[in-house]
Amino acid sequence: MSDFVGRPAPQTGTHCKPKQYDALYRQSVEDPDGFWLEQARRLDWYKQPTVGGSWSFDPVDIKWYTDGSLNLCHNAVDRHLADRADQVALIFEPDDPASAGRSLTYSELHGEVIGMANALKAMGVGKGDRVTIYMPMVIEGVLSMLACARIGAIHSVVFGGFSPEALAGRITDCQSRYVITADTGLRGSKVVPLKANVDAALALDGVDVDGVLVVRHTGAAINMLEGRDHWFDDLKSDVDCPCEPMAAEDPLFILYTSGSTGQPKGVLHTTGGYGVWTATTFNYVFDYQPGEVFWCTADIGWVTGHSYIVYGPLINGATGVVFEGVPNYPDHGRFWDIVDKHQVNILYTAPTAIRALMREGDDFVTSRDRSSLRLLGSVGEPINPEAWRWYFEVVGDKRCPIVDTWWQTETGGVMITTLPSAHDMKPGSAGKPFFGIQPQLVDNEGAVLDGAIEGNLCITHSWPGQARSVYGDHDRFDQTYFSTYRGKYFTGDGCRRDGDQYYWITGRVDDVINVSGHRMGTAEVESALVLHDKVAESAVVGYPHDIKGQGIYCYVTLNAGEEHSEQLFAELRAHVRKEIGPIASPDHIQFTDGLPKTRSGKIMRRILRKIAENDYGALGDTSTLADPSLVDRLIEGRQNR
Ligand code: WTA
Repeated sequence: MSDFVGRPAPQTGTHCKPKQYDALYRQSVEDPDGFWLEQARRLDWYKQPTVGGSWSFDPVDIKWYTDGSLNLCHNAVDRHLADRADQVALIFEPDDPASAGRSLTYSELHGEVIGMANALKAMGVGKGDRVTIYMPMVIEGVLSMLACARIGAIHSVVFGGFSPEALAGRITDCQSRYVITADTGLRGSKVVPLKANVDAALALDGVDVDGVLVVRHTGAAINMLEGRDHWFDDLKSDVDCPCEPMAAEDPLFILYTSGSTGQPKGVLHTTGGYGVWTATTFNYVFDYQPGEVFWCTADIGWVTGHSYIVYGPLINGATGVVFEGVPNYPDHGRFWDIVDKHQVNILYTAPTAIRALMREGDDFVTSRDRSSLRLLGSVGEPINPEAWRWYFEVVGDKRCPIVDTWWQTETGGVMITTLPSAHDMKPGSAGKPFFGIQPQLVDNEGAVLDGAIEGNLCITHSWPGQARSVYGDHDRFDQTYFSTYRGKYFTGDGCRRDGDQYYWITGRVDDVINVSGHRMGTAEVESALVLHDKVAESAVVGYPHDIKGQGIYCYVTLNAGEEHSEQLFAELRAHVRKEIGPIASPDHIQFTDGLPKTRSGKIMRRILRKIAENDYGALGDTSTLADPSLVDRLIEGRQNR
């Protein structure tokens, strides 16, 4: 039986119909250089590129548009002054709906970005310098990114929910000499002490910067260190600040993301290819029409915020919403209040938010109008069909197509999705490859799998938005993404392809877990746990969680003489939050006298995953364990929890 739910009535003025998709896709894979040079015309270039891709996956060397030069701040801001200076670029919706919001036209945005760029220059920031941005979801966060792009500095945004320790690691890894932050931030009426966290990070051993730029947001009292800390208001100025011409392959930003091993990696994106990719995907995937209001609920601390709050929408001259708060404050109807208040046409959010709101019942949704909505998007993790249907039927009144967009920090923008009015939708399937994307499924040995089948998802050809490296560690880039299946980009995701050539992402197949749409390396949580002086060893796995998608399950062995207790559980939880941040809070800690290891000492995570999932029937071969009887004790421990 067909699992299509059909295609809602075609919208007016759509960018792509079914036959056009087929033709464009064919062209994009048969003549990628021609196709992507054509798409590059979406941007203004100081020097229009004549070269498309120059890349190899073995050895790994990825470049696009090598002879082009441009500036993405110019593309996102200045070039719109000619025909949409008075159109709203950004609408700010504060945490507290009773507080005053604000909106900036493109002309006002231009003035504010120049103010921020001048403040950065006044601190000494120049082309190629790394600037760490640790901000709440306020317009100044967007300004910070654009101001860096304007003067050729490389931004590294760190999510405001990360702890001082995590922030410090990200500052030192890229030798960033500058930080932009705010006094405090607000999320669901809770205060986030951003500046105090920056102070704490900079007080750690070996962490040092030349300047901290502080945006006054809530007006909370904070400490300012003479000579190092500067108020944005004191340094900003409106003297002319032209955009710095950048080579297409000059770095634009670093964004830290979790992998299966070690500490987070600084994924590096460059200017030209990333700009073309975000501009093109935004245009087609969201089928954006001039004048529409687009709202991506992500945080600028994640790649979704980079590509679809900042670069994609602004390069396209769209009107976007910047929301400081959370979906359940003051009540579970907040999203729909915002949709009505700002007449949002396109909403782009995460399955975890959809599931959390679905649980609260339909009244919060149906009591709001929502008639402005035209298109809905999902990103960050697989969306279960039940949540998909609720999103489609209740939120979108069955009128609005859903785009379930699969992509990653490393891909720069959307890779697999249906396109509105080009494709029928299937709940739970991301759909078809975007232009230029050639997915391939392989088995664990790397053999290519054809037809309707499940396997490990690789991409065989480069695309303009692809990450170029891991900052400062190109070998790690090669090792992480191109060595599992030599010559292919390996995504780390499992995927099924059905008979209609639709792709269904099944989730990570490596040691990365996806908690509320946030990527987390189990290795990071493990190293945080063993830092605690009572912990001897730990192993962390994901397990299915109704709202978060995956929860964090930790197995912990204690040092000799230590007793486990509820209090120690709370202590370890607090410890992980301090080391990484609240998003890494363990959901369960199971104390155990040992971890299942092979005789050569390798932890058998497969077994730990199954036990955490309460799935004891499929433990597989346990005979190679050094201590097979441990499995029964682990199961008992799981059941007694
Ligand atoms: C997962 C977020 C299924 C996937 C843009 C990927 C998804 C990881 C989807 C990247 C989706 C993202 N369906 N899974 N529509 N979107 N993922 O780097 O496992 O924060 O590898 O980028 O999220 O997470 P990241």
